[in-house]
Amino acid sequence: VRAMQAHLDAYAAAAAERALEVTQVVGAALVDDRRRVLVARRGSGPLAGLWEFPGGKVEPGEPDLDALVRECREELGVAITPHAFLGEVPLDGVVAGGAPGASTLRVWWGRVTGGELVAHEHTELRWVVEDELEELDWIPADRPLLPAVRALLTRL
Ligand code: CDP
Repeated sequence: VRAMQAHLDAYAAAAAERALEVTQVVGAALVDDRRRVLVARRGSGPLAGLWEFPGGKVEPGEPDLDALVRECREELGVAITPHAFLGEVPLDGVVAGGAPGASTLRVWWGRVTGGELVAHEHTELRWVVEDELEELDWIPADRPLLPAVRALLTRL
């Protein structure tokens, strides 16, 4: 019985730790000098075929903006300069392994400052103008950010 109890205690401790885990996701709304923003189409997984702002998971201990720069280099093959924070969306149960409510998607806007765009992980990259944003088939998490992105494009 004692061995069983120790096992259950260990199990409960591991579950509690998982529940506290925060999977932070960062995204980049990259704009050009023609008032367009870069959108990317996911190629694999349950969200395949849907459009998103490029980005991904922040590694443990990694600053958000470092993760943003790293993800853009990995996914798009470019250097970016983040300019300002744009908005945040809760990712309830969306990120596999994360506890409900523990994850958020944080998006900054910025510009490509080096390299040539290559879709290393997406099936398609597209520069779109403000009017084309709403009609794209977005992953659910990114859609709430569209008003902020549209406002940004009009004031550029
Ligand atoms: O590249 P990495 O594996 O770190 O992450 P990802 O697969 O690109 O993104 C991890 C998760 O974050 C995805 O499963 C999406 O649910 C979410 N995500 C999002 O909601 N919006 C984005 N613009 C990018 C990722």
